[in-house]
Parts: sequence; C-alpha cells; structure tokens
Amino acid sequence: MAIPGSFNAFRIHNDAAGYRSGLERLTLDDLSPGEIVVKVAFSSVNFKDALAGTGKGRILREFPLVGGIDLAGHVVSSADPRFREGDEVLVTGSGLSETRDGGYSEYARIEAKWAIALPIGLSLRESMILGTAGFTAALALLRMEENRQAPALGPLAVTGATGGVGSLAIDIFSRAGYTVHAVTGKAEQAGYLQSLGAAEVLGRDALATTRPLESVRFGGGLDNVGGPMLASLLAQTRPYGNVASAGLAASPELATTVMPHIIRGVSLLGVASAGTARDIREEVWRRLASDWKPRHLDRICTRETTLEGLPEVFDAMLAGGSLGRTLVTFP
Ligand SMILES: NC(=O)c1ccc[n+]([C@@H]2O[C@H](COP(=O)([O-])OP(=O)(O)OC[C@H]3O[C@@H](n4cnc5c(N)ncnc54)[C@H](OP(=O)(O)O)[C@@H]3O)[C@@H](O)[C@H]2O)c1
Repeated sequence: MAIPGSFNAFRIHNDAAGYRSGLERLTLDDLSPGEIVVKVAFSSVNFKDALAGTGKGRILREFPLVGGIDLAGHVVSSADPRFREGDEVLVTGSGLSETRDGGYSEYARIEAKWAIALPIGLSLRESMILGTAGFTAALALLRMEENRQAPALGPLAVTGATGGVGSLAIDIFSRAGYTVHAVTGKAEQAGYLQSLGAAEVLGRDALATTRPLESVRFGGGLDNVGGPMLASLLAQTRPYGNVASAGLAASPELATTVMPHIIRGVSLLGVASAGTARDIREEVWRRLASDWKPRHLDRICTRETTLEGLPEVFDAMLAGGSLGRTLVTFP
C-alpha cells in the first residue's frame, strides 16, 4: 500500500508561542522512528489524552508530538520479521504521546516491541473502544485476582463509574462473576450503569466517610478518582480485599492511615497501564478478547469523533462530563 506524501495528524506543541494543539499536515519523516508503519483505523480518547491535548496535565516529555495514547490499524510496511503488510495491530500506552508520536494521525510509525497483534475475538474497532481504558480495567482485575480477590469476598466498588475505565470495569468485572457497585456523581445515569452490569448504583456520598476504619461494605474495588473517595474505599473494604488505584480524576492526593492494611490486611494495588511488561500486556489482551470481553461495547461507545472534534471532547472530559468511551475514526 502506498503511503501518501502528507497526511492529517493532531499535533501538540509547547514553545515560545505557547502550549497549543491542532490538526496539521505531516509527512512520514516528521514521525518518531520505528520499524512499523501503520495506517491507523481507530484511536480513542482517554483522560490522559485530554490532559495532554489541552496542556492541563504534564504528559508529554518532549515537543512537538502527535497526540493519542492508543491506536489500531493495518501494517503498511514492516522492517521487523514478526509483522507483515496487512497485519492488524494495536498499541496502547507504550510512550505514545509521551515520548513518541501517538495515534491521532492517519499514519503512525511504531516500534515493533510495543505492537500487539490484534487478538482473535476482537475487531480493530472493538480494540479501540477498549483501548487504554479497557486494558487498565482488566489489568486491575488481573492484579486483584493474583492477590486472591474472589467474588465470595463481596461486591467490588467502581468509582468514576460513568467514565471510560469505570464503564468497562463494570462490564468486565460482572462478566468475571463479581457483584459490582458503581459509584457515580451522575445519578441520572443509573440505568446506563445497571445495563452494563452494576448491581447497585451509589452516589459519591457512599465514599464520603473519613474514619480510618468503617463498617465493611465492599470486597474491594477499582478507584479512578483518588483523594478522599479512595481513602474511604480502603476504610470500607473487607479483610484481605484488594483496592486497585488507577486514577486521579478528582485528586492525585491520598490522605489515609495504615489501619485498613494492618488491621484488615487490605491491599492497595497500583495499576500503571503504560509501562506494563509485554508478557502481561499480551495476557491482558487475550483475556479482553475472550472470557473478559465486555458484553456491551456498543453501548459503552457513546461517541465517535474525527481528529477535528478532539478539542471539544477533551473539554467535556476534563469537566467530569464523560459517559463511556469516545472512539476516534479516520477516513
Ligand atoms: N493508571 C493507569 O494506567 C490509567 C489508565 C487509564 C486511565 N487512568 C486514569 O483513570 C481516571 C479515569 O480515566 P478515564 O479515561 O476513564 O476518564 P473519564 O472517562 O473522563 O472518566 C472519569 C470519571 O471520573 C469521575 N469524576 C470526574 N471528576 C470527578 C471528581 N472531581 N470527583 C469524583 N469523580 C470524578 C466521573 O465519573 P462519575 O460522574 O460517574 O462519578 C468521570 O466520568 C483518570 O484519572 C485517568 O488518568 C489511569
């Protein structure tokens, strides 16, 4: 397949003229080096993309870079023997839009070591409805189960429930046999959350308690928001339950005590999707394509945008207005 002389990309700058981002025409030579050229079919919008695209968070470590931490598409050319023209591949995290040009581009050049062959059981479109958000939710469950989380321990709380990670976590966890309690600031979306598999929908006030130990209410959970809600979730988790910390939509801070850990044996597990080792990465994608594949991907994909529409999606996301996932489409 011939690569056009120039193509559209959403690029982020930070220089004497200030922090800015938008659509530009680029050539292949403008992109970070790599063994594989991909014609991008889909990307997605994650909270981190909104921080990077607006400059509201320090995500990029060099400038300029093409935005977008996720991409999926067809290999156009490969200098690595593991991939051939026409192969379907995906990349999530892996330095995209951090230290290398990312997925908001009609063509991307990627390093073979980060490329994942699209697993059987997923389409390219489905892989990007999942994207980093789905990968993170599944990685959290993998880590919790490695530490003996089981449905019998009690319900898993999911905070930031209406967001991308939250929506996918509800679907994945309930499919894996857990009772899920969705914690949301959007009471009007209770029907949506129940339709994904939430057995109960709780307001954020359910995690507003402030004592070091509270009555046990959850078997564990996945936290996407940080701050006092995470501290409260730890205080309400049953002995030997696990709480996975994935996000900071509310706050990067965590003021807590050692009591949940030393009295109840509660574990606080970190979830860092971007730096996951390749063997774990492949295992997570295998699960997402098989026994943990969410059943409601079409419902969770609430919005599609082209590269032109990204700034509007970023603003809504940073204002806490997310509902499910936004898929980025290409011509
Ligand atoms: N560790 C990792 O590898 C990793 C990977 C992906 C994402 N993340 C992080 O996980 C978080 C969620 O990402 P996402 O892509 O799912 O974002 P998102 O789609 O924008 O979802 C965020 C959700 O958080 C809730 N929220 C927003 N502001 C809040 C506030 N001030 N207080 C309490 N809740 C608030 C809202 O849910 P409700 O209205 O339903 O409460 C919102 O829908 C982000 O912090 C992101 O950086 C981390």
